[in-house]
Amino acid sequence: MPPPSPLNRRRFLQLSAGAVVLSAGCASGGESGSPGTTSPAGTAGAPLIGPGDPSVAAAEGARSSTGRVARFDLRAAPARIGIGRRELDTWAFDGVIPGKEIRVTRGDTVEVAVRNDLLQDTTIHWHGLALRNDMDGVHDLTQAPILPGESFTYRFLAPHAGTYWFHPHMGTQLDRALYAPLIIEDPDEPGGYDVDQVIVLDDWLDGIGRTPDDVLAALAGMNMDMGSGSMGSMPGMDHGSMGMPAFESEILGGDAGDVDYPLHLINGRPTADRPTIEVPAGGRLRLRFINAGSDTAYRVALGGHRMTVTHTDGFPVEPIEVEAILIGMGERYDVVVQPQSGAWPLVALAEGKDLTAEAIIRTSDAAATQAPPAGEHPAELDGRLLTLTDLRATESVRLDTRPPDVDELIKMTGSMMPYSWGFDGATFPQRAPIEIVQGQRVRLTFENTTTMWHPIHLHGHTFRVGDDPSGPRKDTVNVLPGQRLAVEFDADNPGQWMIHCHNTYHLERGMAMVASYVPT
Ligand code: C2O
Ligand code: CU
Repeated sequence: MPPPSPLNRRRFLQLSAGAVVLSAGCASGGESGSPGTTSPAGTAGAPLIGPGDPSVAAAEGARSSTGRVARFDLRAAPARIGIGRRELDTWAFDGVIPGKEIRVTRGDTVEVAVRNDLLQDTTIHWHGLALRNDMDGVHDLTQAPILPGESFTYRFLAPHAGTYWFHPHMGTQLDRALYAPLIIEDPDEPGGYDVDQVIVLDDWLDGIGRTPDDVLAALAGMNMDMGSGSMGSMPGMDHGSMGMPAFESEILGGDAGDVDYPLHLINGRPTADRPTIEVPAGGRLRLRFINAGSDTAYRVALGGHRMTVTHTDGFPVEPIEVEAILIGMGERYDVVVQPQSGAWPLVALAEGKDLTAEAIIRTSDAAATQAPPAGEHPAELDGRLLTLTDLRATESVRLDTRPPDVDELIKMTGSMMPYSWGFDGATFPQRAPIEIVQGQRVRLTFENTTTMWHPIHLHGHTFRVGDDPSGPRKDTVNVLPGQRLAVEFDADNPGQWMIHCHNTYHLERGMAMVASYVPT
């Protein structure tokens, strides 16, 4: 999302007038006194269900609780970390990449005391959770930013089991080391696996010649440099510098990405320093894939094996066996595999970018020295690829079909030159919010009119993809160029919620809007 603009801040002030979260924002925003004045969408003075609305606390109170509180500390700060043989400077949670996993049980209250020791504002967003709106971590929409040197404690009930993650919702911070898994265990789940391993995928460039902010500035500056002849001098110039896609992928419908990353990581490690996952001989392994990248889809496969997909974006699907899965930024997939004796390559191919991140999966009866050669391209990568239409929600999480109360067509728009992205030709926050009343059925149809794919993410809800009741429940879905894709959800979580592309650079350049609950 663009940095706090006067418009954003005014909207936030309007939303949270009287809300507990505001005090820091008032002090720092310098715009106190503006609540109720023009909001970005022109809904001046219209009442909104803000993060401090009593209905937000009421929705939280209705969630079923274990009564337990799980407490964590999280410090965001500049750090010198090791990636492979390199030592580099970046920003991280508690000095490690990825940040330390948070693991709780469904119904627990999660309490995370965040300290911001960065040199800029931050917030933390709990990606995919249907949590209380005032804890969603969107600066100037659901809370005031956490200023440098300040702290903020997030406290919310973990409503659904599954694979989630968290990251700042500010600037390009997500493209540094500021991300970590959030795993919510299901006390009723039979399990059926011996090892539970999170696999976080990430595209990496920070501290190797340029920062994410340099990349953003270069992309944003492309239109200004047009014809000035200065573009050729940009080191590591990315896709589209001459209006031509540098990264192409058939399965992404053409243009695969905008940014050239020197490294791709699994759990913070490049191929030269592959992690090994040990599995007891004959045992079953649950892998939880999270794409924490900023501009890279990963195609993942396990050499010599098929994988049984069991969940996407935290929610269960009817198990389906595939050889490869394409994972967009923000998406998660859980799979179960029973590795044959030996050591096998788990490969994440940066789609359209021809580089990989890798891990080794080794059974306990294999020699400790046994390892597949690095840099392999297992045949499974080009084998049976999971498609969206393969995915069917399990009976227990299906969303029935009923006529939508809100039915909105949203055109995804934008271009590389100028580097600007949006919805219906408008950049955030200019596109009018979608107004929703609690209890409504909402249908959003995304139509991608651009030449790139975009992973579209909705905060605070898990929509159903497509028209069929068996469509998978997801919170992030890839929309390919020329594609039209409908999602539906029940408006059961009052507040103000972002809808945006999960490409960090597209989000920063405007591809975002708000789903806004309003009073009846
Ligand atoms: Cu994971 Cu609004 O983002
Ligand atoms: Cu995008």
